[in-house]
Amino acid sequence: MTIFTNRIDPTLEEDVQWVFIKALNIRDGALVVTSERDTIYRVDLKTKTVTKSERPSPAGVKWQATTTHPPMPSQANQPSLYERLGGIYSIATVVDNFIDRVMTDPRLNDNPAVNEAHHRVPPAGFKYLVTEMVGWVAGGPQKYTGRPMRESHEQLNITPKEWEAFMDDFQQTLDKFGVPAPEQAELKTIVNSTYGDIVIGKS
Ligand code: HEM
Repeated sequence: MTIFTNRIDPTLEEDVQWVFIKALNIRDGALVVTSERDTIYRVDLKTKTVTKSERPSPAGVKWQATTTHPPMPSQANQPSLYERLGGIYSIATVVDNFIDRVMTDPRLNDNPAVNEAHHRVPPAGFKYLVTEMVGWVAGGPQKYTGRPMRESHEQLNITPKEWEAFMDDFQQTLDKFGVPAPEQAELKTIVNSTYGDIVIGKS
């Protein structure tokens, strides 16, 4: 399988462009590969999913998804997820629809703590922070400035059932805008990586 790809510019000296693996470790059931550029790739040994961390990150969004499958040669130099999603205007449009859905979802607002916060937090600010976060994890120029996921969600007592409702809202929004399957899969990998910081409630 491919952990990372490295484009060689044929007009420059080749061996100085090679990127070697600096360290290999097993951590939490994952193979952690550190390149000599200090980019860290985490390989889930069960699913073979490769995720990449290359920016300082708040707890909760630690990993930037790269690919869920070994890339085909033609994918090696593919544009970032941010570019494939169509940049910030497209991302903001999708987030706008999604947050409207989430903030009015009775399956989520049946939880009193969620309901209280959904009626206290101004939707525009909430959408701003989520848009910034998606741009950031998808490889755009944004930097997430909000609170870490655990800190903003630990008081909400969110249950696995509420998580399912949230993911169902997400699916509806992705389908409404016709986000292609590979980009949907990458976005879901990113969102799923926050599960442990968000779902604190029991049932
Ligand atoms: C069942 C799932 C979820 C529910 C019910 C939920 C609900 C909420 C609520 C009510 C707030 C406002 C908290 C407050 O300010 O007091 C919030 C904040 C936030 N949520 Fe979620 N959330 C969920 C999952 C997620 C996921 C998966 C992400 C992103 C991957 C996310 C991103 C954010 C962001 C960026 C904020 C703003 C943080 C800040 O205030 O700085 N949420 N969420």
